[in-house]
Amino acid sequence: MSLLAIETSCDETAAAVVGPDLSIHSSIVASQAAAHAAYGGVVPELAARMHLERIAEVTAAALAAAPGGWGGITGVAVTRGPGLAGCLLVGTAYADALAGARGLPVVGVSHMAGHVWAAQLADPALRPPFVALVVSGGHTELIHVEAPGAVRLLGATRDDAVGEAFDKVARLLGLPYPGGPAIDVSARTGNPARHRLPRPILPDFGFSFSGLKTAVRYLLDDLRVGDQPLATTAQADVAASFQAAAVDTLCTQLEAAIEYTGAPRAIIVGGVASNRSLREEAARRCRGLAELTIPPPALCTDNAAMVGAAGWEIVRRRGFDDGPLSVDPGLASYI
Ligand code: KG4
Ligand code: ZN
Repeated sequence: MSLLAIETSCDETAAAVVGPDLSIHSSIVASQAAAHAAYGGVVPELAARMHLERIAEVTAAALAAAPGGWGGITGVAVTRGPGLAGCLLVGTAYADALAGARGLPVVGVSHMAGHVWAAQLADPALRPPFVALVVSGGHTELIHVEAPGAVRLLGATRDDAVGEAFDKVARLLGLPYPGGPAIDVSARTGNPARHRLPRPILPDFGFSFSGLKTAVRYLLDDLRVGDQPLATTAQADVAASFQAAAVDTLCTQLEAAIEYTGAPRAIIVGGVASNRSLREEAARRCRGLAELTIPPPALCTDNAAMVGAAGWEIVRRRGFDDGPLSVDPGLASYI
């Protein structure tokens, strides 16, 4: 018996069917990125309206692709925060309505718990204790998952999230939205040692990426001649140098957190964890220090299978919720 999982917190409309052994029976993600690209970022009202238009067909497709369809579903898991309020409301209202009509229980899930438990989809043997580096468009946090349901925040960004920094720097460079993947690709042909950019290492496992972004802005002011756009090679060198600084900062703090906690395992999750350079550098630096799991890129960026994984974790620990669910756009919890 499986969970039907629904995710609508930002700009992906997603549904999945996940078994209790965390096998993914189906996972459908409808990205709105193309619609938001024209505005250079996510437009909340547009995002909510597009979720409303797509959620029924995305959910139907996930059920159709799973063995047994509705017959195999034992409950509904849905993201209730953090995220955009209007977007969260579409998902939770739809989940509540479906569950009510079918006589099924619901469980509200933290999007951040979803990112963390995506690692267990990739590695079913993953169990606490472990350190998690959570890197997304809205969050940059280091947490220590000491035991099931026992999560300690070690440190977080004081300003921009690292994904936000990738998106803003991409914009400065004239690269298309979403900026993270565009920088990842551009940087592959660039020289990461061409420009030395700051690596802000704060005490208490803190991060700060707004200074790095500003350093890129000043660098571009120096490199540009008048209104001329940068040549592709110069653009790639800046992208690679920025990425190297961001990746070095993340890996340095991750190493410090592993040493501080003595955790035998570590995971890197969230959209930025799909970055190729971060994956390679973190694997290199964690060797001999901790066993590292980074889910495949499709499980790092927003999806509903991760909501199913976190849903099972919650249901096992404390059972389903008494519906209907409330949304919490600022939800800070990982449990
Ligand atoms: O987890 P996610 O899909 O959504 C949020 O919960 O925010 O993360 C989205 C963030 C965006 O900032 C996006 O630019 C970044 O992840 N991202 C990347 C890559 N793919 C997505 N950043 C760097 N390299 C990538 N390959
Ligand atoms: Zn996310």
